[in-house]
Amino acid sequence: MCKGYVHGYDSREKRRLKDQANSLVELLHSDTYFPDGSRILEVGCGIGAQTVTLARKSPNASFISFDISEESILEARGKIENGGLNNVQFLCADIFNFGLETELFDHVFVCHVLEHLSQPDNALSIMLSLLKVGGTITVIEGDHGSAYFYPDSQAAQKAIQCQVELQKLTGGNANIGREIYPLLKAAGFSSVNVSPRMVYVDSSRPELVDGFTKNTFTAMIEGVRESSIAAGLISGTTFDDGIRALYRTTELDGVFCYTFFKAIGTKP
Ligand SMILES: C[S@@+](CC[C@H](N)C(=O)[O-])C[C@H]1O[C@@H](n2cnc3c(N)ncnc32)[C@H](O)[C@@H]1O
Repeated sequence: MCKGYVHGYDSREKRRLKDQANSLVELLHSDTYFPDGSRILEVGCGIGAQTVTLARKSPNASFISFDISEESILEARGKIENGGLNNVQFLCADIFNFGLETELFDHVFVCHVLEHLSQPDNALSIMLSLLKVGGTITVIEGDHGSAYFYPDSQAAQKAIQCQVELQKLTGGNANIGREIYPLLKAAGFSSVNVSPRMVYVDSSRPELVDGFTKNTFTAMIEGVRESSIAAGLISGTTFDDGIRALYRTTELDGVFCYTFFKAIGTKP
């Protein structure tokens, strides 16, 4: 189990990861495809929220998906079985202590994981070593500095900043999206191409109002209320004002924007 993992593994967080994956499938995965016969390593698959999409979109590729949390792996396996998919094998493992042979995979896929690691540079070097020469990596990460909304609210910005600070305390970086290009280059990947994917939400897109603004982003910030107050980062009143302001952006005239960064790099 990953001790410092800021979001935890409770049922609310599992629901949030599912909502996040479902509401963003088109935005993040319209161009995710792996050729027939290729071998893909999915790093930090969690409860399989992305795995189902990957396996479904590339039915003739084979996946090894792993996570440090055994409980998450069990849930991911169930999801793949329920979806009638049979091209994924699961492992419980730590990327920093992986033990698989090098140059084994055609592709590595990693989504919403680097932001939680204290050494994302080392993790990327390990991923590079696991790829065959000419193989590719796909990285998807968010960046909380990219969250802006109408009506604007200082309390909401402060509540979001609590998540950023708490993640920093556990060694992570909630603003890692902007660093994906330099990190991949420094790890030795070539032909790195980053495509920003903005989630734009207003009330004409009710599925994103619920699936993203309420159930993904605001739910994530709400989840750090107690730890933020305990860490002395914010008062309960300001935090609650911030959460109310985030919900306010989901009303008829409200707008919410957030950007994910999807990068592809090649092992030279
Ligand atoms: C935010 S979740 C993302 C899960 C999934 N990729 C998704 O997009 O829904 C981050 C996952 O990274 C896993 N993780 C954290 N540190 C890890 C490590 N050192 N090795 C493998 N997995 C790790 C956590 O257990 C968690 O399931």
